[in-house]
Amino acid sequence: MAKTNKTKGFEKLADPEKYLVAGPGGATHQTADAAQASLTTNQGVIVADNQNALKSGGRGPSLLEDFASREKITHFDHERIPERIVHARGSGAHGYFEVTNPIPHLTRASFLAEKGKKTEVFARFSTVAGGAGAGDMPRDVRGFAVKFYTDEGNFDLVGNNIPVFFIQDAIKFPDLVPSVKMEPDRGYPQDATAHDTFWDFISLLPESMNMVLWIMSDRTIPRSLRMMEGFGIHTFRLVNADGKSTFVKFHWRPTIGSASVIWDEAVKINGADPDFHRRDLHEAIAKGAFPEWEFGVQAFDEEQAASFDFDILDATKIIPEEVIPIEVVGRMVLDRNPVNFFAETEQAAFHPGHVVPGIDFTSDPLLQGRLFSYTDTQISRLGGANFHELPINRPRCPMRNLQRDGMRRMDVNPGRVAYEPNSLDPSGPRENPKRGFRTFAAQEGEGETGQKLRLRPESFADHYSQARQFYRSMSAPEQRHIQNAFAFELSKVETPVIRSRVLGHLALVEEALAHAVETAIGMEGQRAEITPYQAPIDLEPSPALSLVGKAKPTLKGRKVGALVTDGADGDRLEALRDALEKEGAELAIVAPKIGGVDLKSGKHLVADMALSGAPSVFFDAVAIFASAEGIKPLLKNSAAIDWVRDAFGHLKVIGHSSSAQPLFGKAGIADDLDEGVIELDARSSVGQYIEAAKRQRVWDREARVSESDA
Ligand code: HEM
Repeated sequence: MAKTNKTKGFEKLADPEKYLVAGPGGATHQTADAAQASLTTNQGVIVADNQNALKSGGRGPSLLEDFASREKITHFDHERIPERIVHARGSGAHGYFEVTNPIPHLTRASFLAEKGKKTEVFARFSTVAGGAGAGDMPRDVRGFAVKFYTDEGNFDLVGNNIPVFFIQDAIKFPDLVPSVKMEPDRGYPQDATAHDTFWDFISLLPESMNMVLWIMSDRTIPRSLRMMEGFGIHTFRLVNADGKSTFVKFHWRPTIGSASVIWDEAVKINGADPDFHRRDLHEAIAKGAFPEWEFGVQAFDEEQAASFDFDILDATKIIPEEVIPIEVVGRMVLDRNPVNFFAETEQAAFHPGHVVPGIDFTSDPLLQGRLFSYTDTQISRLGGANFHELPINRPRCPMRNLQRDGMRRMDVNPGRVAYEPNSLDPSGPRENPKRGFRTFAAQEGEGETGQKLRLRPESFADHYSQARQFYRSMSAPEQRHIQNAFAFELSKVETPVIRSRVLGHLALVEEALAHAVETAIGMEGQRAEITPYQAPIDLEPSPALSLVGKAKPTLKGRKVGALVTDGADGDRLEALRDALEKEGAELAIVAPKIGGVDLKSGKHLVADMALSGAPSVFFDAVAIFASAEGIKPLLKNSAAIDWVRDAFGHLKVIGHSSSAQPLFGKAGIADDLDEGVIELDARSSVGQYIEAAKRQRVWDREARVSESDA
């Protein structure tokens, strides 16, 4: 669609007689004809010249009276709004939610009641710490916010891609965020946890330990926004038509499986394409490969809640799926890109307090604080109290009340009556006890209820057991990555005592982890001694937590890069393309020059990307199709050498024509080649390549290529 528009525009410009009137200043005048709209000011006055400001004489000073020019510049001067205080960088998409397994026994929410029922949604994925212009690939939690425009009002599920959080009480959020954001005196680092203030704060906040293990895992460097799990984190309540309440945790599962990149890839991707995730989401939707997630709940009752060895109101804890399985309720499909990033993605205002009848809160003190924070911040970010009228935020069901006025009010509400009860407007909106939202009359707490206290309950006191459980649930490569991440981050911390404190906490999480990290950073024997308030216990590992463990053998939604030279065999290449397309994957052609290559058959092959701008970190697997002549210049080309060396180091499956072999020697990997490096000269080898690439990474290779890190 986008391509067609582009072509059309180009055709118009290419018709110089009709559309181009060159001016002496160099700017092109594109004048309107009868069929084309005339450009106007915001007052609707048609503009005759959009290239030159009004001047006194051709070379004289510009005149203040030029209302068209003033209006244009004034508008431009005010085009930015404050970015979100957290989660500033985000990418959004429209789509729908469809019920596959209705749950009326759990909730009266109408959008979950009927099989096949569809509800419009808008989702926004974000990083947390960086500014709106930061890169897509820092080590950071990803926001996963979904607005359901239900027929009973908007429900916003404002979650993350990690099921736990750093803090237990919202009062600590205004401490957490400045600790991770750029340090206030120096204005850096941009979107990185690897600095003193973050680890200083964390090392003094044991409740963050479970989350810290999660953020040091590969979850914080997702391969794609389309391949992330999402979580509502807090315990919510569902309430059915009989008023019965059930506790729930909300889950999103990507249907093409979860995947992450390796840290070295993340670093390189951020440099080579800071918009990697945004582009990936946009392009996938534009070409019809719609991202999809299963939506599920872990539902449990008061009795089960009481049986857990943690408090369900503590957002630093998960309920393992092995204890309470996830019941799939529906699916979300994102099938439409925004047409205006600002109007839709930037102006979207999510709020965990936007619930509909049948969904209710618990007293989780983190959730309770959030219920205040979002509207409060949006009043300044979106300029007043009327941002709910913006198209992206407006409910799709009727919205009628007696609120009036305020900055930027867009609705023109007629009538004398802006109060209730009233007798002057009998047809005006009234409360509706039957259909309206009713808060579940929960009996809150025990013992302390009724007393005004500032305290953290004893039931929130175990800060290490689930962190240990998480670490022990990881596969060997994932454990290695966690160790490496800690080593990297602590090596960036300048103050030794902070490093020592973190090591002390790690020893409580898992001795082997602490040992690996202190060895990696050369700080053996320098752990601070931390006395926990409550000693950790050994919990059963939860295999469902391991991304590698549950990875699906699939190439769906993946991208394979083929580096192709002049004279390469096009038949093999096309065989690979066909095989990949059958698997739902895409082949991107990388050529030494963007002009493409001439294949052995004489056919010209158009390139998708030039080698200098398409490092192998962009791809899930790679292949090299080179002729004996074509490979020669690549043997002296550092981009080509890095392409192969990185692909190998990042554990990717590499296919190649036999003529490409010398490149392995240049990349220094010729002696290490393994079953993940596959010669593609025979037709049957394409099948072998596909099977290997479906396994996504050659994990066995890792210990050999990164011995010094582990
Ligand atoms: C479980 C814990 C939390 C999660 C999962 C979470 C998630 C999110 C997400 C996904 C966004 C971005 C929404 C979007 O795409 O527009 C966001 C924004 C924000 N969050 Fe949170 N958050 C959490 C805790 C908190 C807490 C405790 C506070 C404050 C006390 C807070 C304050 C904010 C603010 C002020 C914004 C910016 C909202 C805007 O400008 O529209 N968050 N959060």
